[in-house]
Amino acid sequence: MNLSLLQTLDHSHTIYVPELDETYHSRNGAIQEALHVYIQMGLMEAAQKKSSIQILEIGFGTGLNAWLTLLEAQSKNLQINYHAIEPFPLPETLINNLNYTQNASAEASAIFQQMHLANWEQAVQITPEFSLLKIKNTLEDFIPSTKYDLIYFDAFGPDKQPVLWQPDNLTKLYLCLNNGGIWVTYASKGEVKRNLKQIGFDVQRLPGPPMKRHMLRAVKSYA
Ligand SMILES: C[S@@+](CC[C@H](N)C(=O)[O-])C[C@H]1O[C@@H](n2cnc3c(N)ncnc32)[C@H](O)[C@@H]1O
Repeated sequence: MNLSLLQTLDHSHTIYVPELDETYHSRNGAIQEALHVYIQMGLMEAAQKKSSIQILEIGFGTGLNAWLTLLEAQSKNLQINYHAIEPFPLPETLINNLNYTQNASAEASAIFQQMHLANWEQAVQITPEFSLLKIKNTLEDFIPSTKYDLIYFDAFGPDKQPVLWQPDNLTKLYLCLNNGGIWVTYASKGEVKRNLKQIGFDVQRLPGPPMKRHMLRAVKSYA
């Protein structure tokens, strides 16, 4: 694929995929979106219930969500076991040109590199509070072997990759969540909301990141 780097409005990079005419993040701000959707509305909500959190990310991509999660875990004293699935790992040249770490400490920059250098299919202890398992697979073929507290659903949009947002794939994720577990995404499409409800999730439409009205958070109830 002919991927290229693009600067978003908060100056952080995203990746443009011409074949889909789609970007990996919001053009209004990649870091801003990741912090709002996954850290604020996802991780912080899960951390209210427990401090040791099992996370699954759909679409590791640039590693931005994993890296921000690790930094948050360090500052909030959380213990994170992070699994990320990704069928199309990015080329090293693109990863090395991402600007996410430009204002970060040397330690945080090294951690970002370490996450990308970590072997696939092998759990790697990146820091004392964060272990990472990268799984080279599609969501469709992925067979969960553990239960999660939090799922970052960061697939391409429902209009671009509709199959990932269909009830069968969402049901697989519902089944591998612990009771009380949280599924979170940047998208807010009505059809996705209805699919989630039909599966049994309690669905919340929340304010989105700046310049986006809504996003979705779905909780697997204890019932
Ligand atoms: C919107 S991007 C987000 C990536 C990442 N979370 C980030 O912040 O860079 C979607 C990601 O899903 C991956 N992807 C594409 N098809 C997939 C599939 N069938 N199953 C799982 N992930 C897929 C893409 O390669 C891409 O990395």
